[in-house]
Amino acid sequence: MANRTIMAAGNWKMNKTPAEASAFVEGLKPLVAGATTEVVVGVPFVALSGVLAAAKGSNVKVAAQNVHWEANGAYTGEISCGMLKEMGVEYVIVGHSERREYFGETNEMINKKARAILNAGMLPIICCGETLTQREQGVTAEHVRYQIKVALLGLSAEEMMKSVIAYEPIWAIGTGKTASDEQAEEVCAIIRQLLVELYGTEVAETTRILYGGSVNAGNAKVLFGMPNIDGGLVGGASLKHDGFTAIVLA
Ligand code: 13P
Repeated sequence: MANRTIMAAGNWKMNKTPAEASAFVEGLKPLVAGATTEVVVGVPFVALSGVLAAAKGSNVKVAAQNVHWEANGAYTGEISCGMLKEMGVEYVIVGHSERREYFGETNEMINKKARAILNAGMLPIICCGETLTQREQGVTAEHVRYQIKVALLGLSAEEMMKSVIAYEPIWAIGTGKTASDEQAEEVCAIIRQLLVELYGTEVAETTRILYGGSVNAGNAKVLFGMPNIDGGLVGGASLKHDGFTAIVLA
């Protein structure tokens, strides 16, 4: 079995002003300095500059929460990969269920974003996950496989191994209702099996697959200990030092 570095990635969503964000990362740095986990904070666009400055020289890596796939042009309100790359951003979260639900993002758009992120020399964290209805209908595996298969179209094996997939069941996001370790593991294993089919064993064993959905200090250790779960994409619990640090050190 490949030696995959566990990743603890915070997704702050629409929280913290630029000043709050920088101060948070200044305070976080000493708390996670000794972590063997890869530590990532996913911050609002306007906080990136300050957070990148605060994180400089530390083991805290910085992610954006979204990006547009075009290099430039008449796309009012959008941000390009070139803009993020120049700032020093390493990761970009794409395809979060909130982007899909509230902003109409499709699998095809997520595929274009992943392509653009990799072309720019950054790495995508590609999200997927089923609704409660889909779970109850028994179509979770089909749904997640479809989402991921389209999102990955055209990505090479080398690009795949550097990219990150995050499985986030929508019914577990912000609800306090975590998927059980068996439920989370089952779907992450299905995603890894898809990677075997698409890319072969080596790529599948190297690519990291995170779980997201009400991850907290209490459940992180068990979740991250499952064979196919390589860390977490953390919303609410990533907004506080104690909660996030406990997850990073789990
Ligand atoms: P919560 O951890 O708040 O459930 O959010 C999960 C999530 O959506 C991370 O991207």
